[in-house]
This record gives sequence, C-alpha cells and structure tokens, in this order.
Amino acid sequence: MKINSEIKLTLVSKSDAQFLYGLLKERESNVNISHKKMPTYTQHIKFIESKPYSKWYIIRLGNQKIGSAYLSKQNEIGIFITKNIHIKKLGTTALNILIKKNRRKRYLANINPKNKKSISFFKKNGFELIQHTFELELS
Ligand SMILES: CC(C)(COP(=O)(O)OP(=O)(O)OC[C@H]1O[C@@H](n2cnc3c(N)ncnc32)[C@H](O)[C@@H]1OP(=O)(O)O)[C@@H](O)C(=O)NCCC(=O)NCCS
Repeated sequence: MKINSEIKLTLVSKSDAQFLYGLLKERESNVNISHKKMPTYTQHIKFIESKPYSKWYIIRLGNQKIGSAYLSKQNEIGIFITKNIHIKKLGTTALNILIKKNRRKRYLANINPKNKKSISFFKKNGFELIQHTFELELS
C-alpha cells in the first residue's frame, strides 16, 4: 500500500517530548501495564533524558508524528499509534521497520492480557505467548 511506504521511524529527541506526553495520555488503562499513573511533565522529560530504551523512535507519516515505537535493552518491543490515525497495517509496518533496523534473534512484547487488540496484533505478527507473570507489591 502506497501510504505505508511513506512511514518512517526517526529517533526520539527532546523536541518530541510534548508529542510523546500526549501519546501517553491517550493510553487507556487496559493498555498500560507498567505505568500505573500518569507521570508529571517534568518526570516525563527526565524519563526521556534517562535514555530508557535501546532505541526509541517516533513513527512518522511524512512530517506528521503518528506514534512511537521502542526496543528495550531486553529486546522488548512497544508500539503506540495515536488514536486519530487509522491506516490499515500501520502497526505491522512500524514493527517491520523496527525489526529491520535492529536485528535480534528474539523479541519480546509485554502485553496486558486485557488488551485484546494488541494480543491479536502480536499473534498475527508471529509472536507466541510464553508466560503470564503475577506480581505482589508491598508498600
Ligand atoms: C497495537 C497496535 C500497535 C496495532 O496497530 P494496527 O495498525 O492497528 O495494526 P495492524 O493494522 O497492523 O493490524 C495487524 C493485526 O492486528 C490485529 N488487530 C488490529 N486492530 C485490531 C482490532 N481493532 N481488533 C482486533 N484485532 C486487531 C488484527 O489481527 C490485525 O490483522 P488483520 O488486519 O489482518 O485483521 C495499535 O492498535 C496501538 O497503537 N494500540 C495502542 C497501544 C498498544 O496497546 N500497544 C501495544 C503495547 S506494546
């Protein structure tokens, strides 16, 4: 599809902070597995500056920022597309570009079991379920 050939991944820079914060706000609670509450903008800036991932990209359609994709230091993949964008196979295109740019033997994706859309997305792209992890948190 022509439009998908115009999808690009560019590395995150400080100037993307606002866009990424907006994207974070959009996430429904069922998507969110690791951040239970929204960070403040200052915390968010610090997070970006801490270089938390092996690679962190903005997904672009031409000049328009339409999502974000990362590969963690443990080869975990995350893909987030902004809600107002509906392009068929966009997630798959972004995933394929990320993998092409970063060849690894094995990739992981931590998905909230309630996030049915994401589960079928990763399954469709060849991922297999290997574990459900339980957590006990004491304060
Ligand atoms: C998950 C996400 C990246 C998928 O992107 P996408 O562009 O919708 O995915 P694709 O169009 O490439 O779809 C590929 C497959 O995913 C599944 N899928 C996509 N949207 C779906 C939906 N609404 N319901 C059920 N399955 C869906 C289908 O199996 C689909 O294959 P098909 O088109 O042959 O039916 C995107 O929906 C997103 O950003 N979600 C919010 C963030 C998130 O949950 N990220 C995952 C955590 S890492």
